[in-house]
Amino acid sequence: MTEEDKLLEHDYDGIQEYDNDLPRWWRNIFWLTGIFGVFYLVWTHFGFKEPQHQQLAREIQELEQHKAEIAKSSGSVEVTDEQLMKLVAMPERISKGKEIFVAKCAACHGINGEGLVGPNLTDDFWIHGGKPTQIRKVIMEGVPEKGMISWQALMTADEINSALAYIWSLNGTSPPNGKAPEGDEFKRS
Ligand code: HEC
Repeated sequence: MTEEDKLLEHDYDGIQEYDNDLPRWWRNIFWLTGIFGVFYLVWTHFGFKEPQHQQLAREIQELEQHKAEIAKSSGSVEVTDEQLMKLVAMPERISKGKEIFVAKCAACHGINGEGLVGPNLTDDFWIHGGKPTQIRKVIMEGVPEKGMISWQALMTADEINSALAYIWSLNGTSPPNGKAPEGDEFKRS
């Protein structure tokens, strides 16, 4: 037994202990924690750090701004049917639009656009018109009272255009279980 490992007098139910110094690494961590605590206290309580409620308010404001910008970017661009006709013919748009459609639209329009809660998007009949600008308008503004969501604050202009391209490509695909036509016939020229 070394000088260090001298047992203390007391004895608790047969348990005895040494009176050794704590290891240096342990003490260092202890002191560092204490020093950190002092700095942290000063940092958080004396105006150096933004208080949490202000941080939350600022982040909510930034989010609102961001949402407004997205809404503007997808809503403000004036487009013509001629422009959209070029866009809907682009294969990369259609494949991107398919991903969006499956993720966001299929729940109501069916995985192949055959219609469920929402109308069939593969036939020639359209409640709100079958021109590209008309379809795009419905996607952007929705028909809230009928259960069609307005997507302009939730999707970028690019995503809306891609979804449009995909819907355009579905025409005449006649998937099984297609919902009965709704609206007026629109013949593509
Ligand atoms: C919560 C269900 C729901 C979701 C999700 C949904 N829709 Fe709809 N959608 C509807 C309903 C219901 C209608 C019919 C509105 C009416 O009767 O006027 C509709 C109508 C439409 C129309 C017009 C069809 C016509 O005949 O004029 C288009 C285009 C359309 N949706 C595209 C989309 C796209 C694109 C998405 C995804 C980005 C989407 N919808 C997501 C429910 C939905």
